[in-house]
This record gives sequence, C-alpha cells and structure tokens, in this order.
Amino acid sequence: MELTVNAVEKEAREKLTQISSLEDLELFRITFLSKKGKLSALMQRLKDLPPDQRKGFGQEVNRLKSFLEESLAQHRSQVSVKKQQKTIFDETMPGIQPELGYVHPVTQTIQEVCQIFERLGFEIVKGPEVETEFHNFTALNIPLDHPSRESFDTFYTDNGHLLRSQTSTVQIRIMESRKPPLKIIAPGRVYRPDTVDASHSFMFHQIEGLMVDDCTTFSDLKGILHLLIRELFGAKTKLRFRPHFFPFTEPSVEVDIQWGNKGWLEILGAGVVDPNVFEAVGYPAKGCQGFAFGLGMERIAMLRHGIQDIRAFTDNDLRFLKQF
Ligand code: DAH
Repeated sequence: MELTVNAVEKEAREKLTQISSLEDLELFRITFLSKKGKLSALMQRLKDLPPDQRKGFGQEVNRLKSFLEESLAQHRSQVSVKKQQKTIFDETMPGIQPELGYVHPVTQTIQEVCQIFERLGFEIVKGPEVETEFHNFTALNIPLDHPSRESFDTFYTDNGHLLRSQTSTVQIRIMESRKPPLKIIAPGRVYRPDTVDASHSFMFHQIEGLMVDDCTTFSDLKGILHLLIRELFGAKTKLRFRPHFFPFTEPSVEVDIQWGNKGWLEILGAGVVDPNVFEAVGYPAKGCQGFAFGLGMERIAMLRHGIQDIRAFTDNDLRFLKQF
C-alpha cells in the first residue's frame, strides 16, 4: 500500500482509540513519530515528488505532525490521571473520619439556660467586655469607695476603662437604649484579678437577667428562679432564699440549693431593682419595677457534671472536653 498522509492519519486515529496505558502510548510514539516511524517515512517521499507538489505535500505532512504530537500529549495526560485514580482509589478502604468538634461544657450550660429563659419569653442580649466605670459601678449604685472598685478586684485598662467584673453592666446598657417593658438575659465573660485555684479564675462566665415593667414583683422573681433551678438540677431540688446585700437591688437575696452531704450551696444573687439604678438610666421615678439576677456558669456546670477544678475548663485537654 502506498504511504499517504491520509492513510497514516486514518491509522493513527484508529490506534488512538485503543490507547489505555503508558506502554500503548510509547508504542504509538514509536510507530508514528520516531526516526523510523511513519511520519519520517512520509518526509522521505518529499524529495521524490515533482517540485510543484512539494509545497502542498509538505504542508499536509506538517499538519499531520502537529495532530500526532497533540494527540500524544493529550492521551498522555489522560492515561496518567487514570493511572493515579486506579492506584489511589480503593473503594474497600475505610473513609477518613473527620474529627468532629465538641460544644464546650460551659457553652452547653449557657445554651441550656438561655433556652429555659427563651421559653419564658426572655430575649438574649449581649454587651461589651471592655466597659466604663459608669456601667460597671456607678449606674449600678456602687459607691465610689466600694472595695470592688479597687484595682485588686477589677482589671483596669490604661485609658480609664476596665474589663467588666459582672454582666450586670448589660442591664444598664439595655435600659439606656430601651424603654420598659423589658425581659432580657445577657450571657458573657467577666474578669476579676483573683488568684487562680480550683474554684477561682481570672475569667469566667455569668448570665444576667432583668425584667422591668410596671408591676413585676419579688414573687415573680421567686417563681422564675424556682423554675430555672429545677430545670437545671431536677424537680426535687430544694432552694433557699437568704437575705443579702447588693447595691443594685433592694431587697436582695442569695439563693442556695441543697446539695447532698455538702449542705446548702450558694448559686446566684438576685433582687428587686433599686430605684437608684432606674434613676441612673433615666427611667421615671414612679411606675417602673422589676427584678434582676446573676449567676456563674462555671459553677453550674461544675455542680451538674461533678467537676472538681474550674481550671479543667480552660486547660484545653481533649480527654476532659470529649466527655461532654
Ligand atoms: N453581679 C453580681 C455578682 O457578680 C450578681 C448579681 C447579684 C446580679 C444580684 C444581679 C443581682 O443582677 O440582682 O456577684
């Protein structure tokens, strides 16, 4: 058979459809593109042609050459992808198990408390952690000479601000920006320069609650706290309301729960909002009444899970965290 450009191209196209391995590719290259291959053989013919046919034939051969080279390159990349897939994909191998994160036990406690209050129609709000003395102390009726204002009880910044030592600041922020009625709870971090030990940390979480309208009373507060505690610790939990003093509430109480052989444990502070607080935020002297309360989240989480040391929450030890 006479060697023509068309015949070689036809043969090459046929061979291309059969290529499935690197060996096939190499064979293809040798057959068509090597020195002794069919393309070379076509080139040889050039010199035997009459001069007026050389140009046309030469162009044809060049076109065929590009076609062969491009096809070779294209098939080479396809074959190597297939080869990779063949070696990498073993459908019998177990999949890679993604490492799932865990919700931190303190965050879980916060979420649970928030859900209880959301069911009661409270709104969840937030406030800043860097605060003014006004919001952390003055507006909360805390006198200028109160020990909690001292630098050994509060972290101050260089520019006269402070890290809030209680979430009660959020009561003030919300009342400044809204009119009653209000039903809010404010979870968040608070900071105190305490020496770290099994029950103290320089940072912990509180949840603050505030309800204000024109008729809320101390009995409403009692009802809501009963519900909260029983949801958290079980329906049989015994509570004790013990008279206490907080500058921002009057009357004020601390609430204890009965805890096995440990007796009464204090778990929160609460009271009826002091009129001086309403005055500080510009609420009318008459016609506003409400209650407020605040509780520490680490404390609640420790009691519920039997955790002995508050530092476990921030040690970042996965053996601890994975248990919740
Ligand atoms: N802010 C108080 C604390 O950090 C807790 C507290 C007590 C909040 C009584 C209140 C309250 O809203 O009425 O110890």
